Formats: sequence, structure tokens, C-alpha cells
Amino acid sequence: MPNLPLFPEQASVQAGQVDAIYFFMVAVCGFFGLLIASLIVIFAVKFRRRHPDEVGAAIHGSLALELMWTIIPFFIAMGMFAWGAKVFFDLYRVPAGAMEIFVVGKQWMWKVQHASGQREINELHVPIGRPVKLIMGSEDVLHSYYIPAFRVKADVIPGRYNTMWFQATKPGRYHLFCAEYCGTKHSGMIGSVIAMDPADYQVWLDGGKAEDSPVAAGEKLFQAQGCASCHTAGPTQRGPSLANIFGHEVKLQGGGTALVDDAYLRESIVQPQAKIVDGFLPIMPTFQGMVTEEQLLQLIAYIKSLKGPAGPAGSPSPAPQQK
Ligand code: CUA
Repeated sequence: MPNLPLFPEQASVQAGQVDAIYFFMVAVCGFFGLLIASLIVIFAVKFRRRHPDEVGAAIHGSLALELMWTIIPFFIAMGMFAWGAKVFFDLYRVPAGAMEIFVVGKQWMWKVQHASGQREINELHVPIGRPVKLIMGSEDVLHSYYIPAFRVKADVIPGRYNTMWFQATKPGRYHLFCAEYCGTKHSGMIGSVIAMDPADYQVWLDGGKAEDSPVAAGEKLFQAQGCASCHTAGPTQRGPSLANIFGHEVKLQGGGTALVDDAYLRESIVQPQAKIVDGFLPIMPTFQGMVTEEQLLQLIAYIKSLKGPAGPAGSPSPAPQQK
């Protein structure tokens, strides 16, 4: 619906799919709503009582009619369900190789950090024609990241990560809203998403003032917070080696395994006792309140970047050589 001002522009690969099922459902509801309303009027006129002593004819039902008004809506509803489920899965399953950008919501602004280190506030620059995955956290309360022109929206939740993805199709500047009431200035928690040709995006990335990439910032934090002393091979190692751990499963104390993803790493930093890797003591202190949400994302980016010798993930590093 390009020229209908009631609807925002369609500027992502998702937009057409979301609109198609939406308009289909509106059309089905409109059709049946009109059909039923007209039949009520027509029947009221046609079968009205014409004399005060008129008696209606007895009706014993119609199997064919009942089957028809059961089976047709059944297939229409199931069709909507299957179609809706397909669109839902496509919206939530991030394609492999998507570009990752960190987003932190706080009262009342959106803070963004790109993999190259570029930061922005209340704006998000993205290239078109490429899937973009947002990894989102909140520093205070519930927010919701909403880009109407892309037809995507996801809650941003304190204490955990939520992700969402889109692929922009048209260069332009689009509205960005917070779609969850989050306090006095909720209505001002707005901004723009700027979709650019990949070449322009590169120019934009290069033009910003140089800052540490999340990986570099994370490495500094890793040293500054003392993580390195326990988590690198050596005489002081007391925790699992973090090399090559991301994306792998670790064995947990007391049985079971955990997949090391963003959520697991975050939990292990702020709530280290929650899931302890088998073979280690529960001695790590919590870093809750000592690092901000942005710093957590940087630490995680750094841990993700650690590549090491292949081996069972999370296993203690080989014992240090005796001198
Ligand atoms: Cu943030 Cu509403």
C-alpha cells in the first residue's frame, strides 16, 4: 500500500510479508462482517411477521449448511494460523551471518554501538540489503524498540538480552519509537533509523571519531576488572578458560549442559553462581552493578572474539609448565 498515508512505508524485506497477512486478515474479517450484517438486515426484512397472528414455519436444521459454515471457516482460520506462524518464524529466526549491533535502552534514550566502535544515540545507521541483528538490553526498565517502516518491534528487557533482525531495502530516514510506556519521557524516547547504500554506510562508519571497538573495549575491561587473572591459563587460573567457548556447550556442575551464548555469558558475569562449569569452585564474585549494560556487551564481544586451540569448551587449560 505505497500511497495510503495510513500506513508507513515498506522499507524492509519483512514489511511486505507482515502487510500481506495483515491485509488478508482485514479483508476476511471485513467480508464476513459485511456478510453477517447484511444477512441480519435482509432476513429481518424478508422474514418479518406480517400479521399479528402469523405463526412461523418449524425448521429442523440443515446438515449441509452446518457443515459448510463449520468447514469453510476452519480452513480459513487454519490458513491464517499457518501463514502467521511462517511470518513469525521468519521474523524471529535471525539468518546466519547477520551483522550484529548492540542497543541499550535507558530512560530515555537509545544507545547504539557498532562492531567497529562507532557509537550513536537515538539514531541507528544500517546498510541496505544486509541482514542486521540487534542485540538489545536495558539499563533500567522495559522499553520496546519499534521501527514501523520495517514492521519490526521487540521488547528491551532489563536483566536479559533480546534480539531482533531486519533487512532494510530502501535508503532513507525512518521513525524509531519506544513502544513500551517507560516513564515521564517515554513519548520523547524516539529517534531515526537511517538506511544507507553499503558504500555510503562505509563512508559513514569511517567518518566517525575513532573509538574502541566493543572487542577492544571489552579486552580493556577484562584486564581492568581482573577477569584475566582467573580466566587465562597460568598459575592463578581458577575459572574456565574462555578461549573458543562461545557457541559451544559446557558441562555443568551437578549434571546437565549449557550452551554458551550471549545470555549465558551475561548471567555468568552478573550471577556467577547460577550455572557453574563442572570442575570449578563457586568462587567468582558477582559483577552486578560494577559494569554497565554497555560494558557487559563489550565484555561479551571480547569473549566471543577469543579463539583458542580446539578442545572441549570450558575445560581447564593445560596445566602450566613447571619451571
Ligand atoms: Cu522507553 Cu518507552
